[in-house]
Amino acid sequence: SSPACLPAAACGMVPAWRQAAGALGMGGGEWWRGAVIYQIYPRSFFDSDGDGVGDLPGITGRLGHVAYLGVDGIWLSPFFTSPMKDFGYDVADYCDVDPLFGTLADLDALIADAHARDIRILLDFVPNHTSDQHPWFRESRTSRDNPKADWYMWRDPAPGGGPPNNWRSMFGGGGWKWCEERGQYYYHAFLAEQPDLDWRNPAVVAAMHEVLRFWLRRGVDGFRVDVIWHLLKDPQWRDNPPNPDFRPGEPEVRKLLQIRTCDQPGILDLVKGFRRVLDEFPDTALIGELYLDFERLCGYYGEALDGCHLPFNFHLIMDPWRADVVARSIETYEAALPKGAWPNWVLGNHDNGRVASRFGRGQARVAAMFLLTARGTPTIFQGDEIGLESGVIPPDLVRDPQEKNEPGLPGHDRDIARTPMQWDATRFAGFSTVEPWLPLVPGHETCNVAVEAADPRSMLTLYRRLIALRRARPALAIGDVMVLTGANDVLAYMRCRGDERVCIALNLGASPREVALPEAAGGRIVLSTGLDRDGETVGETVSLGPDEGVVIEVA
Ligand code: NOJ
Repeated sequence: SSPACLPAAACGMVPAWRQAAGALGMGGGEWWRGAVIYQIYPRSFFDSDGDGVGDLPGITGRLGHVAYLGVDGIWLSPFFTSPMKDFGYDVADYCDVDPLFGTLADLDALIADAHARDIRILLDFVPNHTSDQHPWFRESRTSRDNPKADWYMWRDPAPGGGPPNNWRSMFGGGGWKWCEERGQYYYHAFLAEQPDLDWRNPAVVAAMHEVLRFWLRRGVDGFRVDVIWHLLKDPQWRDNPPNPDFRPGEPEVRKLLQIRTCDQPGILDLVKGFRRVLDEFPDTALIGELYLDFERLCGYYGEALDGCHLPFNFHLIMDPWRADVVARSIETYEAALPKGAWPNWVLGNHDNGRVASRFGRGQARVAAMFLLTARGTPTIFQGDEIGLESGVIPPDLVRDPQEKNEPGLPGHDRDIARTPMQWDATRFAGFSTVEPWLPLVPGHETCNVAVEAADPRSMLTLYRRLIALRRARPALAIGDVMVLTGANDVLAYMRCRGDERVCIALNLGASPREVALPEAAGGRIVLSTGLDRDGETVGETVSLGPDEGVVIEVA
């Protein structure tokens, strides 16, 4: 019983990702469908000037690693002018580079070098809030009638005094800050130093569209949009209701359901506005950051696919790593996707613990195999490809404002995912010549790019092989998916394109498994997360070792 396949595709010699993409500058369009994206957190990638903090020339200098990995695009976390209260997610000038990271000329050089290697560049667009040091806010706060007076979310105190309503900050504490100068409160969904813009004001929309155009004209290939589902708030400023599921130990903001501050009616119109701007430039991609369930997140594609190309799917971060859960996720997601929409999967980012620590080392390999064989564009977070574990940050070295505001909440410390990239076994892991801004992960003498590149058993080798396989097989890059099983710790699915069928069987448990997979019978193992099974022929059942996943070519 072979799964239904798409009509045979004339594949020729063109690799799968290129069939979907078209070469850079050739106007192929929709490159993001067949692509693998790599997130770079500039502070922690490579320090070229010896100040302990990564920078843009450092990224350019290490593009060889990105090319060696084999990814198609890079998303750069913010490098814009910023007081760095939230490490660049507090932007004081959207159209310039912070001196900590370099100059606009450095960025141009990075874009040019990446493009010469056929690697696309996506920037981080942070529209929900600016820094309180942004000229727009500095003007807005001065009076109730200045030209920028209604660019932010200003409100009078509640009738009895105090904040206008019960909205909280995502980073702990109240969401309203009193401004003496203006005699009003302003709302901040994150830090008080990150005032929220008022996206119901057309002047804000127009100014931010110009920011997008500024970078698109410079040649960037698209954006990841920060907290895109936060942009609109309830126009009646109603309280958020209590969350009956709140449990002690969770961030305080979870005490309330964010139904008046997130995912509001009308948000899609703003997303479509971004998309129209991107569509002025060929081959660009719009990715949205959204921690939402499948049904709501799929709304951000737009009914006519006129919203985000890829609304981020964070279910591998939000949900337990279990075969039945992931199998159900695939099916729920596929059913929720609008016709023609293309899915995506994310395993980690700079806001969450490292996958190697969340899932354990063995399962991190299985998860990598899932990420890179799933139907949908994968996003890899820098460092996950070497199996970097979560950092251990002594209390006096904590940098993350979220952790500082609400210390000790499990899973709430973001520094642990932001430790420096580990390039080699030298004192500062080849990241810098001085003590880095965050400590290295212990064991960098073995967990680093140089050591792992030479080791066929390493995580890096596994990532490279998976990416190469994905690029070579249209079934993996752009094919259909059919779930075969999600029971007894085993997740198995078929990827299929034309005559090409690939079966993936993953053991999400620590005990060996024997699984009946008649769909894979006669197939040949082309990759295992363990070792030495290449070329093994598969019968009616597949045996999987503890923490083992295999890719089987069936036809
Ligand atoms: C999401 C970003 O990923 C996170 O790092 C940041 O702190 C918040 N948005 C606020 O911009």
